[in-house]
Amino acid sequence: MSDSPGYDAAYAQWRADPDAWWMNAANGIAWITPPTRAFDPSLGVYGRWFPDGVLNTCHNAVDRHVAAGRGDQAAYIWDSPMTGQQARITYAELLGRVERLAGAMAARGVTKGDRVVIYMPMVPEAAIGMLACARLGAIHSVVFGGFAAPELAARIADAKPALILSASCGIEPGRIIAYKPLLDAAIGLSPHKPPSCIILQREALRADLTAERDVDWMEAEAGGTPHPCVPVASTDPLYILYTSGTTGAPKGILRDNGGHAVALHNSMAMLYGLKAGDVMWTASDVGWVVGHSYIVYAPLFAGLTSVIYEGKPVGTPDAGAFWRVCAEHKVNALFTAPTAIRAIKKEDPEGALIARYDLGALSALFLAGERCDPPTALWIEALLQRPVIDHWWQTETGWTITGNFRGLGLFPMRAGSGGKAAPGYGVAALDEAGQPVAPGDIGTLAIRLPMPPAGLPTLYNADARFRSAYLERFPGWYDTSDAGMVDAEGYVWVMSRTDDIINVAGHRLSTGAIEEVLAGHPDVAECAVIGVHDALKGQAPMGLVILKAGVTRDEATIARELVALVRERIGPVAAFKDARVVPRLPKTRSGKILRGTMRKIADGDAYTVPPTIDDPGILDELTRLLKS
Ligand code: COA
Ligand code: AMP
Repeated sequence: MSDSPGYDAAYAQWRADPDAWWMNAANGIAWITPPTRAFDPSLGVYGRWFPDGVLNTCHNAVDRHVAAGRGDQAAYIWDSPMTGQQARITYAELLGRVERLAGAMAARGVTKGDRVVIYMPMVPEAAIGMLACARLGAIHSVVFGGFAAPELAARIADAKPALILSASCGIEPGRIIAYKPLLDAAIGLSPHKPPSCIILQREALRADLTAERDVDWMEAEAGGTPHPCVPVASTDPLYILYTSGTTGAPKGILRDNGGHAVALHNSMAMLYGLKAGDVMWTASDVGWVVGHSYIVYAPLFAGLTSVIYEGKPVGTPDAGAFWRVCAEHKVNALFTAPTAIRAIKKEDPEGALIARYDLGALSALFLAGERCDPPTALWIEALLQRPVIDHWWQTETGWTITGNFRGLGLFPMRAGSGGKAAPGYGVAALDEAGQPVAPGDIGTLAIRLPMPPAGLPTLYNADARFRSAYLERFPGWYDTSDAGMVDAEGYVWVMSRTDDIINVAGHRLSTGAIEEVLAGHPDVAECAVIGVHDALKGQAPMGLVILKAGVTRDEATIARELVALVRERIGPVAAFKDARVVPRLPKTRSGKILRGTMRKIADGDAYTVPPTIDDPGILDELTRLLKS
């Protein structure tokens, strides 16, 4: 029993009859053909949700609210300290823009099942583009703007889009990022060449359009014939979102229409405690899953207003930016990553800027994307005097695995824990043999199959990789690749990843992908990348390289080249600033690099000398080098 009878009852109800629980949640969605059953275990890799339901996601986000009389309410509020602009887009205006853009895309040949790559900054058109795809039954794949051309090219090559939606530029503090040359380079690198691109011209930097292929967004939209919603099966894909895997090849996380709509709509009241007419602000980016779910889709499924923010927590212009936006737009719930709060805390440790704004509407702060260190959670909770709710999820799940549920009655918060399992999830910490460990013991966190609605049914065009990456290690379970514990009261504590993924400023990066880039430098013989502790970003990548025999070039020059190479190949988002030349790397006798031990040395943590180490002397040498 917890201190929330509402949570206990909901969780017990779900466990007793998951199908009935989800069929009830499905009533929140407007179906063209309502599903007659919740789940069919015989379909797909591990089963499929609402297999005979037919719906349209865009209808559920936009059209139905206009029909119900919400046409004059803001669907999105755009706030851009980067450009000094703001915009309020009502549901009725949004419907007009989405149906015309969908018409323009259809006129360029986009039909149901086609892929559309979206490479956009934080402007309303990014959301309009995603909704237009959903309207057509086309599958969008949004690529975060901080990725470089080769990463964009890899995604274009895999998704084979019929069309790309992009913009002339993105705006970061102190610099304008010309998107068009990046897009052209990516299309040049990709074996698949999309026949058409729709480009949003931004005043900060206009782009030269490529004749025959490119068309101006506003002209296309203005000329588009309004397109109706295309009915799709619940199990038809809504989007592919590529995320870091253990190798350089990103994994295409697939999300279907029906399960996504049901789970996300349900989460708005159950988890966030929000209702139609409220204002939600998710300070993330549409390029990440958090942005997909809680900037673009879920707030609209439930008839809320969602804030789209083109700015940073600090420097645009100061550490009061978040509180200014909350006050100005009467935000009821704010959702961001702990790193943003740490950035604010660093610049405004007393919270003086918070006191300047009227936060009367704000009822809770939600955090996710990385583990929230208790001092940060306690600092912001003391200043805001409101619930600060950490919740743990992944690109793969699309919504939270654990949390604290405002709609069910909150249970006491425990700083450092991501809360308890959401109704829909059976979570356990497993040992190597796949058996649940004792409460409070560390294990690999796993989710009992089936994944709830919105959870990935598979990877795009890669069922075998899906099975081997997530399902094979613990039969009957989904392996989250996070390590942690479930305590006696059901609180889940997520401690670290079990693979080579690192989390930098809430961004998920593969050390393997960075290693692939470093290994491509002509002077590098061998390398390892580890995630070291960073006070602001949580983790930061550090590259250790061994040079080829006979290389006599200046080590500092080589290190600078390596930093530039990662920025050019992966992008600024990798935040790779620290490359060091070392004479040797610690390895086991079988040749496996001891990355965990190196990370402890770099963080100054105590470590035990692994019994399998080939040459223990290397560890002292590394300690001296990494200290300097
Ligand atoms: N397009 C192009 N470049 C981008 C970009 C985008 N959309 N987003 C970030 N970058 C660049 C940044 O400008 C930076 O470049 P630099 O190396 O030239 O300074 C680099 O990528 C690294 O970005 P980031 O790791 O975000 O660091 P930062 O120093 O710019 O900002 C924070 C640090 C904490 C302020 C920032 O990470 C933040 O606001 N985080 C909020 C958390 C968040 O959005 N999480 C998403 C998941 S919920
Ligand atoms: P992403 O797929 O980019 O959302 O990253 C998912 C990973 O981020 C998870 O597997 C965790 O390692 C980490 N993560 C996300 N949210 C939390 C949280 N609330 N607490 C701890 N780790 C988190």
